[in-house]
Amino acid sequence: MKLTQREFEEIRNHIYRVSGIYIQNGLLEQAERRLNPLLATAEIHNYKNLISRLVYKNDVHLCDRVILAITSEENHFFADMPTFDTFKEVVLPKLAETIQSRKRKNHVRRGAKINIWSASASKGHEPYGIAMLINEFVESQEGEGVERDDFNILASDLSSTALAKAVAGEYDSDEVNLGIDKDRKEKFFRSFGDKWLAKSAIQDMVDFRKVNLSEPFTRLGGFDVIFCRNVLEHFNDNTKRSVLNQFTYMLTNSGFLILDRRNSLNGFLDYYEHVEHNGSMVFRRRENMEFSTV
Ligand SMILES: C[S@@+](CC[C@H](N)C(=O)[O-])C[C@H]1O[C@@H](n2cnc3c(N)ncnc32)[C@H](O)[C@@H]1O
Repeated sequence: MKLTQREFEEIRNHIYRVSGIYIQNGLLEQAERRLNPLLATAEIHNYKNLISRLVYKNDVHLCDRVILAITSEENHFFADMPTFDTFKEVVLPKLAETIQSRKRKNHVRRGAKINIWSASASKGHEPYGIAMLINEFVESQEGEGVERDDFNILASDLSSTALAKAVAGEYDSDEVNLGIDKDRKEKFFRSFGDKWLAKSAIQDMVDFRKVNLSEPFTRLGGFDVIFCRNVLEHFNDNTKRSVLNQFTYMLTNSGFLILDRRNSLNGFLDYYEHVEHNGSMVFRRRENMEFSTV
């Protein structure tokens, strides 16, 4: 299906208004490639119809699917392994120290929890991946006073379609086989017909919520770790700055911000040190660098 320049601009303006996602000029052909399969599955016969439902009938569900088609490359579990290795090898041991210190200070067996936010969680691969690594880490720390219950994971996305799939925790064999080895698959999923269902060991650790990063979100509170991968590059400079502003405000002292290679922290580097490991884009909030410009 051919997408004209005028149709492209109408779709682009609408998506920008709703999500802050800015489809660059020159990406018309890419948008067409990503949207054509959606038109086919949704039985929409041309782009005029799509625009009519999107813009004039304000079909929120369809809009969700368009945003997902535009921003989501095929994602799978542990895509970008070096980042997850850094989380496992550097971030989790530091979080364990924080847990132990919070428990010592509070003189309780359960200290204040470690809060982790997966801010563009999409269909759940990222937050469930985090939950698997936490499970494995806690097992390896037996006797060190770190428990699975010491961690909370919030998974959010703008797309209700993606979130519904994440909440269900239901994946095709292909999705599970790509990125997850046999042991992890057996440990964290159970087969259900031709699907694989996330087990409660990972599902119970994650809360899901719809959050639009292009609107204010500091009400979500403070976090020890924020993952924000593969979405910032779709925002324009103002939106990206506003998102990073709010993350910097929300991160606890020495908290971790985990980005991807397409996104840097330009303009915010004074507040972070780069965790040099595997070339991954993991940053640690400097202690006592007051930040109150939100
Ligand atoms: C490529 S996926 C990222 C998945 C995951 N973070 C990863 O890297 O594996 C991009 C996600 O960003 C979401 N998204 C787009 N605009 C958003 C916005 N304004 N606020 C929150 N999420 C948004 C899309 O719905 C999509 O699920």
